[in-house]
Amino acid sequence: MRKEFKIDACWQELAENGVDSAHFRYVHNTAEVPVLELYEPNGPLAKMRSSQKFVTPQGVVEGRIDVDTYGPGFTFTHFSGFVDLFLLGCNTPIDDESVELHFTFALASLGDDKLTNSVGKAFVKEVSTQVDEDRAIWEHKAHIARPALAMNDGPFIKFRKWAAQFYVTDEVNSTDPSVTGVYPPPVWEDRMEDAPAKATASARLGTD
Ligand SMILES: [Fe+2]
Repeated sequence: MRKEFKIDACWQELAENGVDSAHFRYVHNTAEVPVLELYEPNGPLAKMRSSQKFVTPQGVVEGRIDVDTYGPGFTFTHFSGFVDLFLLGCNTPIDDESVELHFTFALASLGDDKLTNSVGKAFVKEVSTQVDEDRAIWEHKAHIARPALAMNDGPFIKFRKWAAQFYVTDEVNSTDPSVTGVYPPPVWEDRMEDAPAKATASARLGTD
């Protein structure tokens, strides 16, 4: 089964969704904040391993979300534990501030065609709902290059250093040691001055 979305946001905002652990609980209403076991960028690749509790019609069940990312536009996600489902995500920029997102879902048979079909449809519906919940944020958020982060917010800075390699700019290629390697996407300004001063206190001190 396939789903397509057009989103008015830069590709990096959509990709950052995966490392934003806390938002799954508070934007998508998962039972708990997922446990991020591993986030390992390696050149253009990145690997993420996480466990999560899912709310299902049968109650709350333990599951896993394991993601392999190949460059800025291609992710392969394996949902397991309560289903065995693969999601191929292709994130294609149309211009600087909009993308087409193509999802292809493959669900392992549950032993009964009718059941497999209805679980697959319910899963696609849930993922589509999550995209719409995220869209409201992706299309309106200000990008702050060095945000104030709590311990369980997720590895944003690691992700942003990984994402920066896909931009060809003077800053990214700088040999100046004071250049940190964390940048907004080049088409955007760092909007730190727009954020409340208290919320950005640690960002102003330059801590990760
Ligand atoms: Fe999300």
